Amino acid sequence: MNRNGFDRSWEGFLPKNAVVMTKACRITAESDSLEKIANDLDGCRRCKLCKERHTIVVGEGNPHAQLVLAGEGPGENEDLQGRPFIGKAGNLLEKMIGAIGLGREDVYICNVVKCRPPGNRNPEPDEIEACSVFLHRQLDVIRPKLVLALGRFAAQTLLQTEEMISHIRGKFFEYRGAKLMPTYHPAYLLRNPSSKRESWEDLQAVARELGLKVPQK
Ligand code: URA
Repeated sequence: MNRNGFDRSWEGFLPKNAVVMTKACRITAESDSLEKIANDLDGCRRCKLCKERHTIVVGEGNPHAQLVLAGEGPGENEDLQGRPFIGKAGNLLEKMIGAIGLGREDVYICNVVKCRPPGNRNPEPDEIEACSVFLHRQLDVIRPKLVLALGRFAAQTLLQTEEMISHIRGKFFEYRGAKLMPTYHPAYLLRNPSSKRESWEDLQAVARELGLKVPQK
C-alpha cells in the first residue's frame, strides 16, 4: 500500500511496455506481432467506420523499418485496394521519401484509423479512441528509430496533445523510446504547395537523424 491507500504492489510485475487492452486481455509488445494485430483487426466492428468501409487498411512495409510513416486514415483508393497511401497523396509521399533516398520497401506505412471515414471526412474522436491502440501496438512491435507523423491527427494522437500542427511540425519529440516528428500531411501539401519548403526541411532533419546522406537544395 502507498500512503494514499492504493495497492501498488502489482506494478513491479507488469512487463515493461505493457499495453493494457481491456481488463480481460493484456498484450505486451514482446508477445505481440504485426500478424496478431492484423488478426485482431479482422472483421473489426469496434466503431461506426465499419459500416461503409470496403477494406480494413492495416498498414504495409518493412517490419524492421527504422522509419514509420503514420497518416490519418484510408481514402477512397486505399479503401478499395487495402493498401495505405496509394492515391495522389501517396504519390507525393513516395516522392518525399524518395528525395531522402528511401522507397516504400524501406519504411512502414500505416494510419491512425484503419477504415475510411465516409467522404474522406476527418476521423472523429470516438473512432480514434477505438482504433489508435492498433497504431500504438504497431509501433511497439516495429520499434522504429523515428516516427514521422503526417498531419494533425497522427501527431495529436501519438503525442496526446491538442497543439496545432503548424506549431509542432519540424520538431523532434519523444514517443515510447523513439523520436517522433510531426510534419504536414501530403494531402495538405497538395492543397498548399507553398508549405512544401517547410516539409522539405523536416525531411532533411529526418534524414540527418537516420544517418542518411542529406541532399542539399
Ligand atoms: N491519407 C492518409 O492519411 N492515409 C492514407 O492511407 C491515404 C491518404
